[in-house]
Amino acid sequence: MSILDKHAILEKNTSLLFLGSLLVVTIGGIVEIAPLFYLENTIEKVEGMRPYSPLELAGRNIYVREGCYVCHSQMIRPFKDEVERYGHYSLAAESMYDHPFQWGSKRTGPDLARVGDRYSNEWHVQHLIEPRDVVPESIMPSYSYLKTTPLKLVDVTMDLKANSLVGVPYTEEMLAQAPADLAAQADPNADTSGLLERYPKAKIGDFDGDPAKLTEMDALVAYLQMLGTLVDFSTYDDATGYR
Ligand code: HEC
Repeated sequence: MSILDKHAILEKNTSLLFLGSLLVVTIGGIVEIAPLFYLENTIEKVEGMRPYSPLELAGRNIYVREGCYVCHSQMIRPFKDEVERYGHYSLAAESMYDHPFQWGSKRTGPDLARVGDRYSNEWHVQHLIEPRDVVPESIMPSYSYLKTTPLKLVDVTMDLKANSLVGVPYTEEMLAQAPADLAAQADPNADTSGLLERYPKAKIGDFDGDPAKLTEMDALVAYLQMLGTLVDFSTYDDATGYR
């Protein structure tokens, strides 16, 4: 009996075909799923990644609330044109503390994964107030109200807690210090040694240009200025993760 004849038996008997298919799918499923029970994390660890500081997280919430992701992605793909324009392609670890992630595929505006440090705080504030003041051909909407809206502080600790529930490694100390850390990051005169220990490379300053007020603009600009700046790509090696 040839192999074709044998297969014909399977094809002509629906019960046998069903059982055979079930067997194949089961084997495939086990091969794919079983290793996941033994791996602690499927994301390759990368030096420099840390959870968002309370102020950055507040800014990120505003970014999500305002729907910036509708026009901006945060994922640089490993293609020559993208890497030349935006910088090193995005690593999985760079969005591992994002809930929800902001990858996106729609780019009406440029990718923002590495926009941190590219412009000054003043540029961002002016751009968000009136994009056409700095980029005359821009079609980005104005977000001037962020500069006059005080940042709501009531939920800072709860916000960090909610993120830790879904796996972001905020420590007890980070939770306890959250309100103080948030205030300190937007105050150039504050003692920020504890903040910088908890959140290395956090940018400190009066982001919105008005030291008297803590506004939503402060938080959003703090968030934009840290995007893509945590991993040091001068010491990162693609093959091993480190150099
Ligand atoms: C309707 C689409 C649209 C929305 C919504 C939008 N943008 Fe933009 N954005 C653009 C376009 C187009 C540009 C390019 C022109 C410019 O620089 O203004 C841009 C540019 C930018 C840049 C400069 C990027 C660079 O590399 O030069 C930043 C930063 C930025 N947007 C932030 C934001 C933030 C933050 C929000 C939400 C508060 C937002 N955008 C919402 C369309 C949008």
